Amino acid sequence: MNHLVQRLQPAHRKAIARHFSRLDAEALRLRFGHALTRAALREYVARIDFQRDALFGAFDDADRLAGVAHVARLEAAAEVGLSVLRRHRGQGIGRALLGRAATHARAIGLERIELLCLPHNQAMARLAAAAGMTLHTVDGMTQASATLPSATLLSVCEELLSEEWARLDRRIRVETRALRALWHARRETGQGISRRLARAVARPAEPVRES
Ligand SMILES: CC(C)(COP(=O)(O)OP(=O)(O)OC[C@H]1O[C@@H](n2cnc3c(N)ncnc32)[C@H](O)[C@@H]1OP(=O)(O)O)[C@@H](O)C(=O)NCCC(=O)NCCS
Repeated sequence: MNHLVQRLQPAHRKAIARHFSRLDAEALRLRFGHALTRAALREYVARIDFQRDALFGAFDDADRLAGVAHVARLEAAAEVGLSVLRRHRGQGIGRALLGRAATHARAIGLERIELLCLPHNQAMARLAAAAGMTLHTVDGMTQASATLPSATLLSVCEELLSEEWARLDRRIRVETRALRALWHARRETGQGISRRLARAVARPAEPVRES
């Protein structure tokens, strides 16, 4: 499945914190390279600099963040950190996040994309290798890196379009879910709710809740 990945904003901080709180201790250790307390995790999320770095997320059908990529901006390179919730793994979300991170790094003129993981992290090493990254061992850690081609008008447009597409897809999914809930309520309670349903459908769409 081709997962749609959306750029995250400061308004998503709570959703990002919830995503990390749903990762088990082992996933957190793989993601950050060491064990992390819940307080340290909150601190990390609070300190994310959305001006300098870029965060991307893949939302599930319940509008929760199934996967997150943190693309930290180094001098000429982007360093990526990835996490996908256990029950969403193996479905291509990690690959989609890494692809979007590379497209973004290229669009902003960075020369390389890198990521660092623990040496026994087979899933990450295979994902990186499958994405064409070269693996090295640096200070006992596995470093994956790839040189990015220069941005072109097409690659910049590709990033803009994938962002718009992801937003539209998410909005449609959120609103479809709301309508489905109303529909079920109507079926359970009979015609009494149909006027309310009609009013809800007629009401202009509210912005997607970013939490
Ligand atoms: C690493 C991680 C992000 C992969 O996410 P994912 O959504 O499951 O990955 P995908 O489904 O996109 O898999 C893409 C490719 O990665 C490789 N891969 C993924 N999981 C794998 C596993 N458990 N074992 C071996 N290879 C694996 C495969 O090559 C796969 O391609 P294929 O399905 O065509 O064989 C996820 O396992 C995770 O969140 N781990 C904990 C945090 C972490 O390790 N972060 C990395 C450090 S930054």
